[in-house]
Amino acid sequence: MDLQNLELEILEVGQNPPTGIKPPPRKPKWDDTLAYIADPERFCRENFQKYGPIFQTSIFGGTTILVGSAKANQMVFNGDLKYTEIALPATTMEMFGEYSLFQRPDLHRQRKTALRPGLTGSMLKRYLPEIDRTVCNGIKNWQNQSKIALYPEVEAICFDILVPILLGINFDNGDLEGLPISSKSELKQLYGTFFDGFYGLIKWKSPLTAYGRGIAARAKLIELMQGVINKRRQQEEKIDPTKDFLGMMLASLQENPEGVFSDRLIENQCLLQLWASLYENAGLDCSVIYQLGRYPQYIETLRKEQTANKNNLSLEILKEMIFLEAVIKETLRTLPPSSTANRKLTKSVILEGILYQKDWVIIAEPRIAHNLPEHFQTPEKFNPNRFLPNSKEGKMYEFIPFGGGVHACLGAQIAMTITKIFIARFLNAFDWNLNGEAKFVNFPLKKIKQEYQISIASRC
Ligand code: HEM
Repeated sequence: MDLQNLELEILEVGQNPPTGIKPPPRKPKWDDTLAYIADPERFCRENFQKYGPIFQTSIFGGTTILVGSAKANQMVFNGDLKYTEIALPATTMEMFGEYSLFQRPDLHRQRKTALRPGLTGSMLKRYLPEIDRTVCNGIKNWQNQSKIALYPEVEAICFDILVPILLGINFDNGDLEGLPISSKSELKQLYGTFFDGFYGLIKWKSPLTAYGRGIAARAKLIELMQGVINKRRQQEEKIDPTKDFLGMMLASLQENPEGVFSDRLIENQCLLQLWASLYENAGLDCSVIYQLGRYPQYIETLRKEQTANKNNLSLEILKEMIFLEAVIKETLRTLPPSSTANRKLTKSVILEGILYQKDWVIIAEPRIAHNLPEHFQTPEKFNPNRFLPNSKEGKMYEFIPFGGGVHACLGAQIAMTITKIFIARFLNAFDWNLNGEAKFVNFPLKKIKQEYQISIASRC
């Protein structure tokens, strides 16, 4: 399949589609949003079995087309500024504010390019020892326990990893002193309220709505970031660009006041990155531990791969953990943490005889793409070998846990790195058993429910 040459026809305004061109199957139903939010996996599976990998729904209001075939995914990911624009729900857009990557499509590329160095390459290398130290210290606290509540424990460690990297706040150094939020637990709680605000269904600014509470939490978090930025400027006359994501942006602004960054953009970007990363990453780490609990036959191979790589985990050593990478990818395939972003069609397009009409929303769904037999052999089987280097599975547009095109996840590399370190350290430190089947929260992100516990035994 030559995906470079996507035979896509873009219709001009007023141009009628040729005869024989049909919209996707299925009529949108009034309760689609509720059914999707309750269980996106089931919604996708049942409709896929009935209608195939492309079908109409009414999720989030209006007509929304869910797609999963490689060509349709490519069409979704590559339409920016040509025939699509990002179209998140109104509450979500308002929560992002005008400095996000989404409100200004014209500035998206420039902003994303400026942000990327803070999460990749030499900066990522620089974060490694601290990520590793935080994971090791975090899981050391589990050593005398026989059971842990998996998700909250893992999330707490991910919080300790991501807040210093992204917000430039180091709890051990008393960085919160003199700031409007005085403790880690207050920050964590506020962040949870902020996150929930993105998915409030009613756009009413009131303490009675998730959106209203989210907007208030956002204002407080912005105030916090202003305090953190002021403090950093007082402490460092010339800001160190390599210390963290915040420092990278502040140093860039210091060097070029007319460039991409401004104080407003910096405050907002810190919040955006934390919003995008914490629960996704914690959810993924837990899902890997869970899947390995269900399929323990892969643990020995993973441990063998670990024996040579012990003390200092460098990017090179992590790269050599090929089987671990395959297990993480197979977890992302079977339990994708989220769907990709909604895109709205700004023009009608035709692909493979299907009409996608202007103003409809299109979503590339990993829950469909990852279960297509033409993308993955026996997709219902958990089989990490399909992601080993000599395998032909897991191609671009077929494996889409991090989306694709210009809006592809900015944190994919750091997310994979954190997960690799987490699982490598956990594998070496503990044996574990599941306590029955886990229940998951499915929307907006897939994560194991708070109360689910696993049994652990220290290997030291
Ligand atoms: C398991 C971890 C993660 C998963 C599964 C994930 C998944 C995704 C997905 C599906 C998208 C939408 C892409 C699209 O629609 O094409 C996205 C976008 C994004 N992600 Fe992630 N993500 C993860 C972790 C992170 C982390 C750690 C960060 C940053 C520290 C991050 C930052 C972002 C940003 C900024 C965007 C928006 C990019 C844009 O619109 O240009 N993500 N992510």
